[in-house]
Amino acid sequence: MAENDESLSHLEYWDERYSKIDGETPTHEWFRSFSHLEHFFQKILFQSPGHRPDDNPLILHLGSGDSVIPAEFDSRGYSRQVCVDFSTKVIEAMTERYKSRPGIKWEQMDVRDMAGIADKSIGVAFDKGTLDAMIHSSPWSPPRDVKENTGRYLREVYRVLEDSGVFLYITFRQPHFIRPLLNPDGIWNLDLEVLGGKEGSFDYYGWVIRKASYQEQKSDGVYNVSGVEDASGMENARTSSNLRTQAL
Ligand SMILES: C[S@@+](CC[C@H](N)C(=O)[O-])C[C@H]1O[C@@H](n2cnc3c(N)ncnc32)[C@H](O)[C@@H]1O
Repeated sequence: MAENDESLSHLEYWDERYSKIDGETPTHEWFRSFSHLEHFFQKILFQSPGHRPDDNPLILHLGSGDSVIPAEFDSRGYSRQVCVDFSTKVIEAMTERYKSRPGIKWEQMDVRDMAGIADKSIGVAFDKGTLDAMIHSSPWSPPRDVKENTGRYLREVYRVLEDSGVFLYITFRQPHFIRPLLNPDGIWNLDLEVLGGKEGSFDYYGWVIRKASYQEQKSDGVYNVSGVEDASGMENARTSSNLRTQAL
């Protein structure tokens, strides 16, 4: 994604891109595949009380595109998923592609106005690259349309999320630029997983976001999952990936 590409915030760009979808071949998986994120999902969802498949959370994929992540979740037992995207072209293509998976619904919707989704109905909201697509121009001083679009979107996510729900946001963007856009009103508690790239590739980030009003928050301090030393020099070898969590 070109960081300064304003066209990515417009429907026309995505409709044009998704008009090239054909048959069973996804046109893209935006910057991280399911396998890259599996350790993160294990920790935050698959083994996390309240968000496990047996807990049957309603999962909302925000700007789902033609990602295979909803199908991967379905295969792991999540049977209540709604995927929304403002591109009718991709919603039609995905509805056809995944018609054999009744646990995934595809709906054309603008994430800045999700009137079709009830207040506090969503257990897990997931964004990979959608907030990013709304951001362009200077990261030091985002233009007004960026602040307006991201603000409307995030207030909608807050509205539809259960009080105990979790909002996961995967991005390549640097945390110091994202934090002010994510939380201008202080309505969220933010945790950050640094999802290290392998062999010199760039880091990317998994934000784990909960309502600040919800008291049963986990986490403080910094800890590592996996083969990486934490600040105390202790090693935690629970998984083999390079994940680091930081309460912000
Ligand atoms: C960078 S792509 C990511 C797609 C998918 N999440 C993935 O990881 O492959 C951004 C997606 O967000 C969608 N999108 C952008 N702005 C949107 C909006 N305001 N409402 C709904 N969908 C939007 C685009 O159509 C596109 O599918």
